[in-house]
This record gives sequence, structure tokens and C-alpha cells, in this order.
Amino acid sequence: MYARFERFWHWSQALLIILMLATGFEIHGSYALIGFEQAVSVHSFSAWVLIGLWIFAWFWHLTTGEWKQYIPSAPDRILSQIRFYAFEIFQGKAHPFHKKRDSKLNPLQRLAYLSLHVMIGPAIWISGLLYLFYKDWAAMELFSGISLTIIAMIHTAAAFLMLAFVVAHLYLALTMDEHPLSGLRAMITGYEQDPD
Ligand code: HEM
Repeated sequence: MYARFERFWHWSQALLIILMLATGFEIHGSYALIGFEQAVSVHSFSAWVLIGLWIFAWFWHLTTGEWKQYIPSAPDRILSQIRFYAFEIFQGKAHPFHKKRDSKLNPLQRLAYLSLHVMIGPAIWISGLLYLFYKDWAAMELFSGISLTIIAMIHTAAAFLMLAFVVAHLYLALTMDEHPLSGLRAMITGYEQDPD
């Protein structure tokens, strides 16, 4: 179900995002764990690793055709998936979606991952790079209409969206199959039991 690169990308991205959430909110002033200066160093270093990983991931998706997994489903399928998560899951009803190798994301996952890849991800790295090189942009009089405060607000808002994604992703990953940990096992081994 999951290729070797996909599993590598998934787990290294997860680790980096958790690290960046932890250091980012320390920089923001939400708490003190490792100290502001160290948080800035870890955050800036992980930023380059994450940007590098995202470049490889974009290349992998485009060259393998795996990007097609994120094409949005028909509205009625999206609605039945929403109905399942809002009501039917609590009534013990069967999952309306069945995973296949070439269509492994349910209609809501398709929308969530598509927005992660084309909206939240780019918003975070573009605002992050503007933040990191603010003095240089300002010296070149580029983006002169955008103040550092605005950039910091966009970056923090994107970080909150990323945090919301992580929380929803963990909850939904545990409810994906009958056994709560079978999705987790598949993302480690690459294989998943075929229900048929
Ligand atoms: C991927 C590229 C990224 C770059 C280049 C980047 C860069 C930066 C920079 C330069 C700062 C300011 C540090 C300082 O004050 O000296 C910052 C702050 C912050 N970052 Fe990132 N970051 C990136 C990704 C992320 C991610 C993935 C998250 C969380 C999911 C995140 C969350 C935050 C938060 C919450 C702050 C504090 C914002 C504030 O209060 O002003 N960043 N980031």
C-alpha cells in the first residue's frame, strides 16, 4: 500500500513538523522548554531539512503519478464521508470507503491532504522564508508593503492550521480501519490486509 519513499517521507515529515511546532510555539512565547535562542536554531535548521524533503516529495508525487490520489471526489461521496464521521461512526456502521492501492484516500482525506500540500505547506514555507530573510528582503526594498508583524501573523496562523491538521489526522488515522492501529502498522511495514 505504501512505497518505501512514501513511508520515509511520512515519518520524517511527521518528526520535523512536531519538532517545528514545539520550537515554533516556544519562539512565539507560549512556553519555555529549551530557551528562545536554541529554539530559533533548531527551528531554522529543521526548516531547511523540511523544505528539502518537500522538494523530494513533490518530485516523487509528480513523477510517479501519485498526485492523482488527491483529486477531489464527487460531492455525494464527500457528503457520505461527512455523514459517516459525524453520525454513523458512533452508531457502529460500516466505513463507506474501501481502500485500494490506486485509490487509498477517502473523499475527506483527499481534500485535507490536497489543502495540506497546496495551501498550508506553501503558506508556511513562503512566510517562513520571508521571516528568515526579512532583513535582506527589506534591504532590497522587495515586499516593502508587508511588515514583519504581518509575516509573523501569517506564519503563526499557518502553524495553527498545521496543528489542527495533526490533531485531526491522528484521530482519523485511528478510526480508519476496524482495528485502530492497522493504519499505523501499514505506514510502517507498507502492507495492509486486503478485506476481500
Ligand atoms: C518550512 C519552513 C519554515 C521556515 C523557513 C520557518 C521559519 C521561521 C522563522 C524564521 C521564525 C522566526 C524565528 C525568530 O523569531 O527568529 C519562525 C517562527 C515560528 N514558526 Fe516557523 N518556519 C518554517 C516552518 C514552520 C512549521 C512547519 C511550523 C509549525 C507547524 C512553524 C511554526 C512557527 C511558529 C509558531 C513561530 C513563531 C511565530 C511568532 O510568534 O512570531 N514554522 N519560523
